[in-house]
Amino acid sequence: MHAMKRIVILISGRGSNMEAIMRSMAAEQWPAQIAAVISNKASASGLQTAQAAGIPTKVLEHRAYPDREAFDAALSAAIDYFEADLVVLAGFMRILTPGFVHHFQGRLLNIHPSLLPSFPGLDTHQQAIDAGVKLHGATVHFVTPVLDHGPIIAQAAVPVLEDDTEALLAARVLQQEHQIYPRAVRDIIEGKVWLDGDRVRRRDTSTH
Ligand code: GAR
Repeated sequence: MHAMKRIVILISGRGSNMEAIMRSMAAEQWPAQIAAVISNKASASGLQTAQAAGIPTKVLEHRAYPDREAFDAALSAAIDYFEADLVVLAGFMRILTPGFVHHFQGRLLNIHPSLLPSFPGLDTHQQAIDAGVKLHGATVHFVTPVLDHGPIIAQAAVPVLEDDTEALLAARVLQQEHQIYPRAVRDIIEGKVWLDGDRVRRRDTSTH
């Protein structure tokens, strides 16, 4: 029996993906615990959700640091303090330095609200509507130094409908995010999925 894996979740806002992970973890009794939730914004409402669940929270305001390197050094020290086995970016709206990414290589995950490599960056739902694509979605990936570009662990697609607004499309995608992110985190926790160089490997579970 392995020790409980320690997950640190980074958020900047609402934290609905964080909540989805919390829910699945409890319902499915993963061999894991959320060691801390860290936000770069004191106003992130997800902090209250975490606190209500008895999870330690920490705020590191990026504006309090002179540059990206200094912020990322403080952030990485905070994560290490909580002895994270896995770092889960859940609506964490900061570009990370190569040094930070390297430090957590293979144990740093992100969810991005598009079918990467389409539409990296911001305003992905409006980008999809403007491009006229018929399918849009979300991607869970290991984080590499190139923004929104790492090896893909899971994706889910949704249709883009004729009269879609950004909000309608975002809600449709978010529903899928709440499905694929907890599953991806669980697969990594359980050692079924891992990063091998720049490839995602998956243990064959077809015989189980
Ligand atoms: C989610 O849609 C997530 O994919 C996106 O922010 C939202 C956070 O919602 N992340 C990014 O855009 C990362 N660049 P949540 O706080 O309710 O999980």
